Amino acid sequence: MFKQCIIIGCGSHASAIISIIESSGSYEIIGLVDTAESYDLSEKKSGYSVILNLNELLSCSDKYIHLHCILAVGDNVERETIFDKLINKKFKFPNIISSNAFVDRTVVMGEGNIIAHGSVINAQVQLGCNNMINTCSIIEHHCNIKSHVHIAPRAVLCGGVTISDMVFVGAGATVIPHVYVEESSIVGAGAVLTHNITEKQSTFVGVPAKVKKK
Ligand SMILES: CC(C)(COP(=O)(O)OP(=O)(O)OC[C@H]1O[C@@H](n2cnc3c(N)ncnc32)[C@H](O)[C@@H]1OP(=O)(O)O)[C@@H](O)C(=O)NCCC(=O)NCCS
Repeated sequence: MFKQCIIIGCGSHASAIISIIESSGSYEIIGLVDTAESYDLSEKKSGYSVILNLNELLSCSDKYIHLHCILAVGDNVERETIFDKLINKKFKFPNIISSNAFVDRTVVMGEGNIIAHGSVINAQVQLGCNNMINTCSIIEHHCNIKSHVHIAPRAVLCGGVTISDMVFVGAGATVIPHVYVEESSIVGAGAVLTHNITEKQSTFVGVPAKVKKK
């Protein structure tokens, strides 16, 4: 039987998330929750309507607690903030895995992870919570991905890479084996990261990746 879910966030990212949920084949989408104060009930994304906003969801949590929450927010900081607020209200976040993704049976994950179309998560990977593993990204064996991370389309994490909380790895970036990436850092699109990022909130770009001055 289909479980019922609501999607939090109704920006352009929501359309991509709806596609993954539909592909996963296990959730009925009840509607979208706008994260903004004012919202438009006539707004639709891929055929689904906005039904309320985040403040209403939080203040009437008893009414909606039976619904599973799926976050459609690309920005890590915003996604973490909303996730924490809803977890405090005891909402549940399923892991959503596209039917076109491969997740090895030995992968261990928390909750609220979204694994998009074409992604591969190989053996012995650990994933925390609330991560966005975007289209066609590759997470090789023994990687350790903490929480609130976004791995953008076609990024490749080679074996044994550690990605700390809130890191963003841009589209098409490659992180070579066993590299460590410190919290809230950014690996720019197309970068090849060949050494550890040890300072929080650093941005590295280019091939090989170098720190981008603020
Ligand atoms: C790294 C990044 C976050 C920097 O963003 P920013 O701070 O706004 O940078 P700017 O666009 O102001 O560019 C500043 C300089 O850095 C360079 N630069 C920016 N991103 C770069 C990248 N990925 N690789 C190499 N150089 C880059 C720009 O060319 C520019 O150089 P210039 O000053 O010589 O003209 C961003 O460019 C990026 O790569 N984002 C990833 C996007 C992505 O993958 N999205 C997927 C969504 S699903």
